[in-house]
Amino acid sequence: MTKLPRIVTAVFMGLLLLVGFGRGEDPAAKLRSDQDGLALTPPMGWYPWNEFGQEPQNEKLIKETVEGLVRSGMKEAGYTYIGPDEGICFSRNASGKLTPNLARYPSGLRGLGDYVHQQGLKYALYTDAGTRTCSKAMPGTKGHEFEDMKAFAEWRADYLKVDWCNTTGQTPDSTYPKLRDAQLAAGRPLVFSLCSWGEGQPWKWAASVGHLWRTTGDICGPGKASWTAAMKNVEANEKLSASAGPGHWNDPDMMITGMSGLSEVQSRSLFSLWCMMASPLIAGNDLRSMTESTIKILTSREAIGINQDPLGIQARIVRKDGAAEIWAGKRLFDGSQAVLVFNPGEAPAQVQVTPGDAGFEESASLYVRDLWTHQTSGPRAGSIRVTVAPKDVALLRISKTSSFPLPPVIVADSYRVVFHASGNSAQKLTQAITVKNNGSSELPLWTVSPGLPSWLSVTVTPSGKTQTFSNKVSVAGLGRGHYHAVVKADNREPISGLPMSALYYDVDLEVSGAAGGPANR
Ligand code: GLA
Repeated sequence: MTKLPRIVTAVFMGLLLLVGFGRGEDPAAKLRSDQDGLALTPPMGWYPWNEFGQEPQNEKLIKETVEGLVRSGMKEAGYTYIGPDEGICFSRNASGKLTPNLARYPSGLRGLGDYVHQQGLKYALYTDAGTRTCSKAMPGTKGHEFEDMKAFAEWRADYLKVDWCNTTGQTPDSTYPKLRDAQLAAGRPLVFSLCSWGEGQPWKWAASVGHLWRTTGDICGPGKASWTAAMKNVEANEKLSASAGPGHWNDPDMMITGMSGLSEVQSRSLFSLWCMMASPLIAGNDLRSMTESTIKILTSREAIGINQDPLGIQARIVRKDGAAEIWAGKRLFDGSQAVLVFNPGEAPAQVQVTPGDAGFEESASLYVRDLWTHQTSGPRAGSIRVTVAPKDVALLRISKTSSFPLPPVIVADSYRVVFHASGNSAQKLTQAITVKNNGSSELPLWTVSPGLPSWLSVTVTPSGKTQTFSNKVSVAGLGRGHYHAVVKADNREPISGLPMSALYYDVDLEVSGAAGGPANR
């Protein structure tokens, strides 16, 4: 990168920081998401670890998985973040800089990020807070916090998982804030995922540090999905419901839905539990070859609507009836309530869910929607009787009205715009990206944050549930070189009036030729 674009990028990032993190407040004193508007609903995406472990993680696998994610309808359902986990992606060179493993990632880690962005997805990367990653195959960030976070920003990561291996002598509550500061200094807004497996009780202090934190050990070893281990994670994570909310989530680990070792019923139950716990929906199965039933589970708009609810409440077990568990306490953005009856036992369970269990007065007249059969009944008074087979669930949405709106699910055609201009001082260029809401409502117009560099202007125009961001570049007065900006836009969910996760995308401008004069001045 030339000096000039670095300056341009730095100035714009500085403006972003001033707009977002300004007002003289200590960033550590509030939610991290207050500063960047990210992950206001649980992040959705895919990581390779549960299915593949370290092998064969490479560019080919990530690209094939991107194709699988798009082809299966998962992108349209809201899955966004994708990239390598611990997979020998980079090493540290003699001068201390992280360098990509070009044998495994021939396009480089920035090149893979560009590919992901151009598919309308967001780029996830992995690192470790200690001296080495867990298998010791990759360097950890210890002692290199600032330069490493700069590398992840240069590779254009939008999500960073920071593991906790090889951390002898370190503590999570001092190490992760240091990495947070280093990451903020690098200037790129990203979802920051703490992965200390519950060590250091991050739910007590990490909401100002990151957007999510692992609450448990690994849900399985690579390729070895285990229902029993998953249920242990559920048990631990359930107890922490009070700590979760928009921008700060308990993470019971990536899902094992669709992996061999789980029945279809278990896969659906696990997914339902993750939806009710407002857990990050990070798929861990092989997206290149999914059964129809796995696709149906992972892309269920109604179940995902529970997970992506703007209030961001994590449900808890409000009552047990024999082996069956009644999960509730999850009010949704339209005043309806989500209720899950889960039967972890060995025999069918017959359960009566009272209006009180569901958060209504006992005399309420209610509509009940079964989110897996897609049937609505009601209005009705009194208890709701359900029979649930072993390991199965009844996932219900209960409301005083018969409409069951879905919250926003944002899908973009691309998160990167690239301009090539010859140094013609009069040249003006336009390129658009489109951003669609797959939820029920038309959204208000996205508001683009001020502080764009002088060569870029962005206007947003609506057309039903799709909005077009027109990016106009004016090359006048620019010297040769690379210019980069990050565009941020905000919106509010119209039924609740609550803020939605901020939308970010990259704009690159390459100016060649002489008219504007040489770069690096
Ligand atoms: C830890 C994490 C896993 C995975 C592996 C990689 O165990 O918890 O999710 O990232 O490291 O080695």
